[in-house]
Amino acid sequence: MTDHYAVVGKPIAHSKSPLIHRLFAQQTDQDLEYRAELGDSVNFEEQVSKWFALGLRGLNVTLPFKERALALASKKTARALLAGAANTLRLDQNAGGLEADNTDGIGLMRDLQERLGFAIQDKRILVLGAGGATRGILGPLLEAGPARLVITNRTEERAITLVQAMQTAMNATALTFNSQAQLAQHNEGFDLVINATSTSLSGDVPEVPDCIWASHTMAYDLAYTPSGETSFLVFAQSHGVKNCADGLGMLVEQAAEAFYWWRGVAPDTSAVLKQTRILLAA
Ligand code: ATR
Repeated sequence: MTDHYAVVGKPIAHSKSPLIHRLFAQQTDQDLEYRAELGDSVNFEEQVSKWFALGLRGLNVTLPFKERALALASKKTARALLAGAANTLRLDQNAGGLEADNTDGIGLMRDLQERLGFAIQDKRILVLGAGGATRGILGPLLEAGPARLVITNRTEERAITLVQAMQTAMNATALTFNSQAQLAQHNEGFDLVINATSTSLSGDVPEVPDCIWASHTMAYDLAYTPSGETSFLVFAQSHGVKNCADGLGMLVEQAAEAFYWWRGVAPDTSAVLKQTRILLAA
């Protein structure tokens, strides 16, 4: 019997999750269908309950419903609690309620550490932005043992609040907030600069001082494009950065982790990333 899965968001038409999960299903010979659903801002909880009551096996959740998805679940993984948001739901087989997970952070870590071969341990890392995307990746980044993890944000209070919450939750001494002025005082570039702001979606770039860059810096944008080039990565290249990656690899990896959580089968993500890139560009 065919099992049914979906992704919900608002907007949702742009979502690549149906494509990626269909490629996983083909590759691993799993009998499933995966559809996109437009979320209802008022009745999101009722929508989700109805889909599961009708037999849905699993749901991915994207903006702006990730916090509500976490709240809806009776069982939550540690990484979803730490992120304060869920991107994946399934039925809790024992209790009958919903179980929530967050695979975004592990998706980034797999892409960075395994596919791109960038080891976080003992590295100096800068994260730009302090919204939901940043919150989702901080836990796994800190667990990988960076020497320093600096967060900066246009709205300073937001980054300060996030850093304080994560320091309390994880006892993370490597984690610090930097204002623009503090950032400008660094006298060596970072090993890795992650753009977790939404600026690339509008072709903008966040304001950062030139000293964050070094020739060995890797620039990673959570946003992605078919070609792999984003406004942030072009900006990094203009400062001499050669090692760049967009977030399509993370998107495929977070999907693979969700697929594994639902099906117990791990797809070959490098093949699907290649296929996805080709299909997006077509
Ligand atoms: P997400 O869930 O994708 O993180 P979000 O919670 O709206 O979305 O956060 C967007 C992030 O991009 C924030 O860090 C935001 O900065 P503010 O907290 O100051 O709003 C950042 N951002 C958006 N546009 C920006 C811009 N033009 N320059 C710098 N940062 C920007």
